Amino acid sequence: MPTFGARLRDITRRLSDAGVPSPQADAVALMAHTFGWETSDVRTAAARDDHWPVDNPLDLDRLEARVVRRESREPLQHILGTAYFRNLALQVGSGVFVPRPETEGVAQHAINAALASPRGRDGMVRVTDLCAGSGAIGLSIAAEVPHAQVTLVEASEAAMVYLRLNARMLNADARSRVTILMADARRCLHLFERCADVVVSNPPYIPPDAVPRDPEVRDFDPPEALYGLGEDGLDVPRAIVDEAARLLRVGGTLVMEHADVQGEALREFAAGSQFWRDPRTEQDLTGRDRCLVVTRDGI
Ligand SMILES: C[S@@+](CC[C@H](N)C(=O)[O-])C[C@H]1O[C@@H](n2cnc3c(N)ncnc32)[C@H](O)[C@@H]1O
Repeated sequence: MPTFGARLRDITRRLSDAGVPSPQADAVALMAHTFGWETSDVRTAAARDDHWPVDNPLDLDRLEARVVRRESREPLQHILGTAYFRNLALQVGSGVFVPRPETEGVAQHAINAALASPRGRDGMVRVTDLCAGSGAIGLSIAAEVPHAQVTLVEASEAAMVYLRLNARMLNADARSRVTILMADARRCLHLFERCADVVVSNPPYIPPDAVPRDPEVRDFDPPEALYGLGEDGLDVPRAIVDEAARLLRVGGTLVMEHADVQGEALREFAAGSQFWRDPRTEQDLTGRDRCLVVTRDGI
């Protein structure tokens, strides 16, 4: 039986050969997940080059199956079943978009808007997350803003499974403030006209000719989560801006994620409408344009 360090080196080399961008970190994560250890325990055992400590041959089979999945470039989060987003450990898998770190900043702008919003007569602020996916943004807001009533809207049945699971993992108070709707976020929410204080969205926005190069994204994120339709990928985002104008009260805020090259087009789109004022673009931690923030005007 190879030592622990030899096994880790072997898995790291296999993942590296498969083009995995962070092969050692992923190898450590797969071993830790399989044995129920902390990643620090895996690193320590590898550094000491301990003898292989695993008695159960099934664990070896499970580890091998997971390594083969990662070699095929299935996202690590699918294999572990978990994606971390702000304070949440979200369940993810086939059919749902894996939340990205840059979206944590988009959620922060929505949280800031919710905290700055005057409360309604019931003491609450109303937030709507359009294109909610796993619930990363909307559930974070429910968890972090104790007076937010959050409605999450998602059209995909596969994503909806994860969204419901993740909502159940909130504490009872946050869960009681969450409503989940299966609907087309572009056009079916007229019932709630002018009630929201904040609308937040991370819609699909990739243009058809910008197919992502990473297999984890191209082959495993659902197409309806990636491609925003239209030549520039902005058909869905523009429809979300229009729908947000119907949903928001006057003075309410829309926060919407977009690609780094789409800031100007979306600012211009909002500026061309009588329903919006003060469009601005916020950057992510790498300094790239990342989201539109705009205020519902008084018409
Ligand atoms: C980029 S993912 C974002 C998911 C999540 N908000 C996040 O940030 O991780 C876009 C999501 O929008 C959903 N979606 C796409 N078109 C939609 C539509 N017309 N109505 C509702 N949801 C839609 C997709 O199924 C996908 O879950």
